[in-house]
Amino acid sequence: MDASKKTHNEQDKQKKVVLTGITPSGIAHLGNYIGAIKPALEMAKNDAYNAYFFIADYHSLIKLWDPKLRQEYIYDIAATWLALGLDPTKVVFYRQSDIPEIAELNWILTSVTAKGLLNRAHAYKAAVDQNELEGKADLDSGINMGLFNYPVLMAADILMFNADLVPVGKDQIQHIEIARDIANRFNHIYKTNTLTVPTAMIEEKTQTILGLDGRKMSKSYGNTIPLFAPSKKLRKLIMKIVTNSQLPEEPKSTENCTIFSLYEHFATPSEINALKERYQNGIGWGEAKQILFEKIDSVLTPFREKYDDLMANRHIIDEHLKAGQQKARLEAQKVLSAVRKKAGI
Ligand code: TRP
Repeated sequence: MDASKKTHNEQDKQKKVVLTGITPSGIAHLGNYIGAIKPALEMAKNDAYNAYFFIADYHSLIKLWDPKLRQEYIYDIAATWLALGLDPTKVVFYRQSDIPEIAELNWILTSVTAKGLLNRAHAYKAAVDQNELEGKADLDSGINMGLFNYPVLMAADILMFNADLVPVGKDQIQHIEIARDIANRFNHIYKTNTLTVPTAMIEEKTQTILGLDGRKMSKSYGNTIPLFAPSKKLRKLIMKIVTNSQLPEEPKSTENCTIFSLYEHFATPSEINALKERYQNGIGWGEAKQILFEKIDSVLTPFREKYDDLMANRHIIDEHLKAGQQKARLEAQKVLSAVRKKAGI
C-alpha cells in the first residue's frame, strides 16, 4: 500500500489512541474548559498519542429538540476547541453525525448488548427513580429510547476508532465500563479480537470545579460561567458568585471557596500564594471577585478573540470539520468492514 494512503491510525500503530467527545447541549463553560478541554489538549501535544476529538451531536438529540440551538452549540463547541489551540492537522477533529459508520456500528453493538446492562445505567436509573418519587404509574414516563441507548452509542463512538484511552469526568466512568463490556461481548460472540477494549482516564480535578452557587459547575444546575462570555458579562457573572457573610477584614478560608478554586486554575503559583495571603489577612469578597475577574479575563481574552473570529467565519469551521470527516471515515470504514465480516453481513 502506498504510504500516503495509510490512515492516521495505521501510520502510528505503536501510538495509543486517545478519544473524547463533548455533547453540544449548551455553550462551553469554565468547567468544560478546566475539566475536559484543557487536559485533552495537553494530551494531544504528547507524541505518544493519536488523538480523536469530536462533537457528539447525536448524543444531544436525546434531550435538546431545538434545531437552531443545536446548530449554535455545535459551532460553539467547534470554535472553542479550535480557538484554544487544537491543531486539526495533528488531531482528528470531527462531528459525530458526519461519520455514518458510527450509526451502523451502534446497531450492531445494540444487538449484542444485554438489556439488563442498560437497565442498570445511572442516567436511566435516575430518570426511573424520579418517576417513582413523583408517584407516576408508568416508571418509564417521559424516557426516550435515546436516553436508554445512550451508553451503546457512546460505545460505538469509542470502539469505532480502536480507542485505548478515554479521558472523561468521574460521572462518565460507568459509560466506559459499559463500552468495555460491549467490546468483550462482541469479541466473545464472534470469536475475534476485532474490537479494542478501552480504558477510562479519569481527570481527578473535574469534580472540584465549582459553579456560581458553590455546587459542581454543570449545565443541569444552571450555575455555569460561559467560557467566552464578553468581558462585561464575565465580570457580572463573577460578581454573582455566592459567598458567605464574613466581613471584609475577617480572615477567610480558601477551602471550598469558589472564587479561590477558580483562581487556582488560571493563576501562577506565586499569584495563588499571594491571594492566599490576602485571604488570611482579610479581603473583601468584592475585591477577591475583581481579582478573579481580571485574571480570567486576561488569560481568556486572546482565545476569545480567536473564538469570535471563528464564529463570524463559520465556513472555516466547516472546512476543518470536513477535513476531519475524511480522516475519520477512512479509519472508521476499516473497523466497520472488519466488524461486518466477523458478524457475517
Ligand atoms: N457522554 C459524554 C458527556 O456527556 C460525551 C461523549 C459522547 C463522549 N461520546 C463519547 C465522551 C465518547 C467520551 C467518549 O460528557
